[in-house]
Amino acid sequence: LLNQDTYLVNGELKKWTGKTTPVYSTISSTEKYEPTLLGSIPFMGEIEAMEAVNAASEAFSNGQGEWPTMKVVDRIKCMENFVGQMKATRAEVVKLLMWEIGKSLGDSEKEFDRTVEYIYDTIESYKELNARSAHFSKVQGVNAMVRRSPLGIVLCLGPYNYPLNETFSLLIPAIIMGNPVIFKPAKHGVLLISPLLEAFRSSFPKGAINILYGRGREVASPVMKSGKVDILALIGNSKSAIALQDQHPNKNRLRLVLGLEAKNPAIILPEADLDLAISECIAGSLSFNGQRCTALKILYVHESIADEFNKRFSDKVDSLVFGNPWEKGVSLTPLPEQEKPAYIQELIDDATSHGAKVINAKGGQHSENYIFPAVLFPVNKKMRVYSEEQFGPVVPIMTFKDIQEPLNDMAESNYGQQVSLFGKNIKTIAPLIDSLVNLVSRVNLNSSCQRGPDVFPFTGRKDSAVGTLSTNDALRSFSIRTFVASKDI
Ligand code: G3H
Repeated sequence: LLNQDTYLVNGELKKWTGKTTPVYSTISSTEKYEPTLLGSIPFMGEIEAMEAVNAASEAFSNGQGEWPTMKVVDRIKCMENFVGQMKATRAEVVKLLMWEIGKSLGDSEKEFDRTVEYIYDTIESYKELNARSAHFSKVQGVNAMVRRSPLGIVLCLGPYNYPLNETFSLLIPAIIMGNPVIFKPAKHGVLLISPLLEAFRSSFPKGAINILYGRGREVASPVMKSGKVDILALIGNSKSAIALQDQHPNKNRLRLVLGLEAKNPAIILPEADLDLAISECIAGSLSFNGQRCTALKILYVHESIADEFNKRFSDKVDSLVFGNPWEKGVSLTPLPEQEKPAYIQELIDDATSHGAKVINAKGGQHSENYIFPAVLFPVNKKMRVYSEEQFGPVVPIMTFKDIQEPLNDMAESNYGQQVSLFGKNIKTIAPLIDSLVNLVSRVNLNSSCQRGPDVFPFTGRKDSAVGTLSTNDALRSFSIRTFVASKDI
């Protein structure tokens, strides 16, 4: 059992003696299903939230604190120290990733390694950014040097599906730019931050990073209401982002860096390589049980190939193996959110009541903590699964006759993160790309949607994102451009 009995505020690991919240895994250690108790976390409230706000305010000191004024080389040393210590926690963090969120062993290892790489790449980008900043240019007789300065206090809230990688894709650039951060881990994937607490404490000066535990409304709300937050950095849903934003007494001053919902489509053209399209669509829609913001959440298949695509796609879905994350050959695992199987079932029932069928033999088979992926066909706009972000194991398929049909749907959608396009004929593909780049932020040709490589800009249009992440762009999202301008002397 991992009972988290300290929290990090003002450079100190403080003992927690108050109320705690148990942390369960939906992975069962018995034949008869029962959630496994993994440990507990502090149940914090306004007092601790204000402690963190005060520590961060002190650390920033209106831009004059030790952290925001620290020399670039020294800030880099702090980050290198942190990542050096973090590497030693790999085995423990990977184990917790498997137990807390049910991510497979391979994917958990990948998440850890990718995060370490992300930190090193961010350090490199930070060096380059500063090297460029040191460059003087002359404009109309005035010498100008552009600097990147920290903006202020960041409240950072990460998601449960990538509790390490995505959270750190906010946290790391925010910190390295010199902003003090208040961070509350996600509800699932919270214990895995414990092995990193000492590394955070010993690597950064007082108040540069403060880590709180508890529920959003008990902890994040008072932080926002204090009016001291300059950047709200959140990956999750729009509802939480809007609620938090609204609690800030001076919203005009608040910068947002948000990764939100998406409903990424795949469009499969008649001449597409079906083997490739099917394997990419399986990985795209069902890796980590579809719990990725970049997952393919609706497939548009040209009507001339729909029968063949549907048959081969659903057979392949049925061949996927369900099991515990550490078992070999397993790609479907227990869902961390206990309410998710019932929600997925609701979507299936709603779609079937409007004329769709579950076309794979195993689709919708239940256990307490899991539901086997259901492939739904034919899906239409009346169905909830057409418009809701399912974030789980259900794959809706629609057909199209004219390419304008999926393009119109994308134009009307509230989301605009990515699209996958499968085809071979460059004459058909080229003009389509011209349309698609105006609808989403990334077009993937003959491959599924994804965030990586992490140096690529990660963002979205409409309700999918505000601001841009990546090892390069995030540094800009978490800083302000200032000029030093001088006449010739
Ligand atoms: O949940 C959204 C993640 O950023 C997805 O990342 O495409 O690398 O799985 P990924």
